[in-house]
Amino acid sequence: MPSVSGIMETMEYGPSVEDAGAVRAWLAARGDFGHFIGGAFTAPVGPFAVIDPASGAVLAQVSQGSADDVARAVRAARKAQPKWAALSGHERARFLYAIARVIQKRERFLSVLETLNNGKPIRESRDIDVPLVVRHFYHHAGWAELRDSEFPGHTSLGVCAQVIPWNFPLLMLAWKIAPALAAGNTVVLKPAEFTPLTALAFAEICAEVGLPAGVVNIVTGDGETGELLVSADVDKVAFTGSTEVGRAIARATAGSAKRLTLELGGKSPFIVMPDADLDAAVEGVVDLIWFNQGQVCCAGSRILVAESVSARFERLLCARMERLRVGAPLDKSTDVGAIVHPIQKARILSICDRAVAAGAELVGGAAEEGCFIAPGYLRNIAPANPGMSEEIFGPIATLSTFRTPDEAADLANNTRYGLAASIWSESATVATDMAARVRAGVVWVNCANIFDAAAPFGGVRESGYGREGGRAGMLDYLAAPKVREKRDPAPKPISALPEGYGTPGQIDRTPKLYIGGAQKRPDGGASYQAQGALIPLGSRKDIRNAVEAAHAGRAKWLGLGAHGRAQVLYFIAENLSQRHREFAALTSESEVDTAIRRCFFYAGFADKFDGTTIAARPGHLVHVQPEPHGVMGIACPNGSGLAGFLSLVLPAIAVGNTVVAVASQSNPLAALMLYQVLDTSDVPGGVVNIVTGARDPLIAELAAHDDVQAIWYSGAGLEAVQMAAAETVKPVWAVPAHDWQREAAQGRAFLRHASRDKTIWLPYGALPAGTGSTSY
Ligand code: NAI
Repeated sequence: MPSVSGIMETMEYGPSVEDAGAVRAWLAARGDFGHFIGGAFTAPVGPFAVIDPASGAVLAQVSQGSADDVARAVRAARKAQPKWAALSGHERARFLYAIARVIQKRERFLSVLETLNNGKPIRESRDIDVPLVVRHFYHHAGWAELRDSEFPGHTSLGVCAQVIPWNFPLLMLAWKIAPALAAGNTVVLKPAEFTPLTALAFAEICAEVGLPAGVVNIVTGDGETGELLVSADVDKVAFTGSTEVGRAIARATAGSAKRLTLELGGKSPFIVMPDADLDAAVEGVVDLIWFNQGQVCCAGSRILVAESVSARFERLLCARMERLRVGAPLDKSTDVGAIVHPIQKARILSICDRAVAAGAELVGGAAEEGCFIAPGYLRNIAPANPGMSEEIFGPIATLSTFRTPDEAADLANNTRYGLAASIWSESATVATDMAARVRAGVVWVNCANIFDAAAPFGGVRESGYGREGGRAGMLDYLAAPKVREKRDPAPKPISALPEGYGTPGQIDRTPKLYIGGAQKRPDGGASYQAQGALIPLGSRKDIRNAVEAAHAGRAKWLGLGAHGRAQVLYFIAENLSQRHREFAALTSESEVDTAIRRCFFYAGFADKFDGTTIAARPGHLVHVQPEPHGVMGIACPNGSGLAGFLSLVLPAIAVGNTVVAVASQSNPLAALMLYQVLDTSDVPGGVVNIVTGARDPLIAELAAHDDVQAIWYSGAGLEAVQMAAAETVKPVWAVPAHDWQREAAQGRAFLRHASRDKTIWLPYGALPAGTGSTSY
């Protein structure tokens, strides 16, 4: 035992290790683990070892889920679902509340178990992860109670398959299970093979609170078990993990009508503007990258710092980095714990080696004995260096500099991911400007790594789609109110007519494609016959040109602002009404009336579909802003050439997207004739691009296009479209087949699918964030 005077001499921290006795006793008493199916644990089969990465010791043996286990778990969930959904919201809320209470009582036990199995410092699991787990169950107890009043007409989806990774084992479980249960679904969850233990402890809690058997099922195993679960008879798949597996899941579920949310990788920018509080920003790096061993999907692992302050920033960063304590995760004064598994350690080191081989300089980042890597960063790193593009998922950041805000935004967005961003500037103007410019689902201004159950979380681009948390998260677990569907007639087959077919007079009257605000003959000049006219047969090249035009049109369209866009939509209505007779001849009187009403509806909504500020935490403004996807590809319904077309195009452009719309294959004339209306209504060139031809191949081309951000598809060929979209991790909305002349064919749901939430965290107040008061 060191003496007091000895401590004064060295000023060393002594060890302060959290007691793991209760957890070890529980593990010993439990023995090998089976799965949790239908409210009970199965007998352990084919167990595999789960280790404590800090020591390498085996903690437990866990079962590898087989096809039979998965099928049994899904059957149990299916059997339990109707009864669970039939409970009142209040009854479901009581169960979620009871789970929250028990977890809260067991916070210490669960934190120690999490740290033992995952290697993260006890401070992280005890002070951040487990309290957030509790918060999620309380928050969603609230949504269970309010489901029917807040989401009228919505119903549960059924059985949800949930596959989670190892970096936040219990927190990811809470993010997935709490909203699913609140909405009235039942679940089969597969934890990551490295870290299944807190999920198994959670299963015991479900039994303890008397959750009906089959509502929560936990099947352990590796990726093979995950694959089996994803392809089982489930209604929704929710996945968090690598982009590569996310892509495979999108392919596996294509055409199956399973709802899908993907929360995938990230390579988030951490932007330090010249006027940033550098000390605070350094703490942000510590918090976001190093405290979690960098094992966070939203880690701000690309530090971008203004050149004018970079030397000072690096000095502060190094000074802080050198003082971080790497070591025993259960020690309360450890900053950086163990990497989750030797496999992951090897992966991190291999990326670092390749980065250094490609010219980067590694500062710190030494590999230590066991599963430990000291915090570090790669400097002098070129944009094409693998360390810059690959997700390192370890305590190694990259550091590069910029000179202007434009360069900062370009560098920040120079990635295929778009999960999160952290921006540091003492100027509200600079920070919010940058927050608007970065392409990310979550933006932290002058803060980092903050989460809350009420604040939607999720990515854009190859970081996935769908949101977890808050209202948006609930909607991802609910089915929209049923509409009376009307089957869309299948398109008549196309046979191409060569260029010059028919009389010259006929060809002169042939309508053209509408791209970039101008009429264009299709590339190749071929046509097909529909509605007694020669319709341009659009090609892949036309699609590529249209996408380019749609990109070029974006800035002007967004620059108009919501009110400006509303005005344009009203003009469309006005001009349509002046040409009422002409369009009625191509469709019908009532279809033109519907089209005009639809313009009014979305013109009305253009400046009212707004963001909200949520009271997630004291001392923080958390703004949730619906943002347009960017360029959308839309396959319009076949049956209703005008009302169907506008029912999809108008909501998409109302929120600020530009679109490439593939018109009805059999009834394309009205859409093609819209060019005059669009021209005279001040729709900027490139906002609406209209392509005709073989609809399904054209939309598949859009789905595969790198520069198209979302697809809406109405038709019978969903599988091919979803397959094509899987490569670029693009959301595809299977638009229900409406009777397009009914009022149900318009509404908020269309606007919601035309946008995705960006969550922006803005701490405020002269007192430290989180004190809950700004009064002096
Ligand atoms: P992973 O994506 O392979 O695994 C995540 C989960 O998916 C695990 O439960 C795994 O068993 C399961 N899984 C694997 N293959 C599957 C399949 N074909 N079908 C269904 N489920 C499947 O991630 P892994 O190997 O653990 O980590 C690899 C890399 O992924 C990391 O280095 C990191 O870059 C990234 N990652 C990203 C995370 C995030 O939160 N976005 C979390 C964990 C890893």
